[in-house]
Amino acid sequence: MSFPIVRHRRLRQSANIRSLVRETVLTVDDFIQPIFVAYGTGVKKEIPSMPGVYHFSLDTLEQEVKEIVELGIKAVLLFGIPETKDAIGSSGFAEDGIVQEATRVIKKLYPDLLVVADTCLCEFTDHGHCGMVHTYERDGHVCGDVMNDESLELLARTAVSQARAGADIIAPSNMMDGFVQAIRAALDENGFSHIPIMSYSVKYASAFYGPFRDAADSAPQFGDRKTYQMDPANVREALREAESDVLEGADMLMVKPALAFMDVIRLVRDQFDLPLVAYNVSGEYSMVKAAAQQGWINEQAIVTEMLLGMKRAGADMIITYFSKDMARWLREA
Ligand code: PBG
Repeated sequence: MSFPIVRHRRLRQSANIRSLVRETVLTVDDFIQPIFVAYGTGVKKEIPSMPGVYHFSLDTLEQEVKEIVELGIKAVLLFGIPETKDAIGSSGFAEDGIVQEATRVIKKLYPDLLVVADTCLCEFTDHGHCGMVHTYERDGHVCGDVMNDESLELLARTAVSQARAGADIIAPSNMMDGFVQAIRAALDENGFSHIPIMSYSVKYASAFYGPFRDAADSAPQFGDRKTYQMDPANVREALREAESDVLEGADMLMVKPALAFMDVIRLVRDQFDLPLVAYNVSGEYSMVKAAAQQGWINEQAIVTEMLLGMKRAGADMIITYFSKDMARWLREA
C-alpha cells in the first residue's frame, strides 16, 4: 500500500489547528462604515435597493453613530443628500452643507471616531457629474464635457470645508486628473497639513455603483462617467493612476469596486507601500442582500468569505455597508 507523500489534511483536522495556521483574519479594525445623511428631522428612511441601509437626518444620526461606536468600529464615511443642487455643486462646499453639519454632530459626540469625508460633487450637482460641466446641444440632446482643471478648484474648496468642519480624513472620489495635488495644496494652505488623503486612486466606471446612485440621487443626467472613471478592462492603467496619486502626496490608495477587481487590489498592493483600501460597493452589497432575502445563500458566510478575499488580495481596510453586521458577527464568534 502506498501513502500520499503530502498530507494537507493534517493541518485541517480541528477548528483549533485551523485557526493556528490561518493566514488572514478579519477584525473590526478593518472596517469603515458608510453613512448617508439627509435633511429633515426624525428621518430613518431605508434605501429600496439597499435593504438595511438608511438615510439619516442629523437627529437620528446620533443613535446610529452610537451603535457604530459601541460595535467597536473606528471610522465612518459620510455621503450627503443636499436640499438643493446646482451646476457647480455649491452645497458640497457650503460651510453649513449637510456633510459639514453631520461631521460637526459626530465629532462633538464622539471625538475619537474617525470621520472620512467623500470629496466629490456628484451628489450636489444638478447634472450629477463629479465635476463642472460645459453643456451644449447636439441633435436636440443636452450633452456635456466634464472640465478637469475648473473642477479642481471646487473640489479643493469642498475638501477644505470638510476639514474645517472636523473631518479626520479626506477621501476624494471624483477621478479628475491632479485632484490629490490640488486638494493637498489647499489643505496645507488652510492649516490642514495634518489631514491625510485617502485617494480613490483606482476607480472604475462600474455598474456596481447603481444602488448608490439611487441612495445618493446622483446618477448623471446625461452621458456617463467613462471620461473620468476607468475602463474595467484595464489594469496597467490602474498602476499609472496609483503612481500619480503617490507622487501627488496621497497617504492611502483605494481600489473600487472590489469583488470583480481582486487582481487589481493584489497588483497595487505589490507595487506600492501605502496603506490600501478596498471599497466593497453598493451593488456588491445589494446582490448579497437580495439573494439572502430569498434564502438562496448564507449571508454571514458569504460576506465573511468576500471580505476575507479582499484582505487576502492585499487590502489593509475595507469600506463596506456590512461593517456593522460584520462587527456583530465577529463579536458572536
Ligand atoms: C461619488 C461616489 C460614488 C460612490 C462612492 N463615491 C458614486 C459614483 O462614482 O457614481 C459609489 C459607492 C458605492 O457604489 O457604494 N463619486
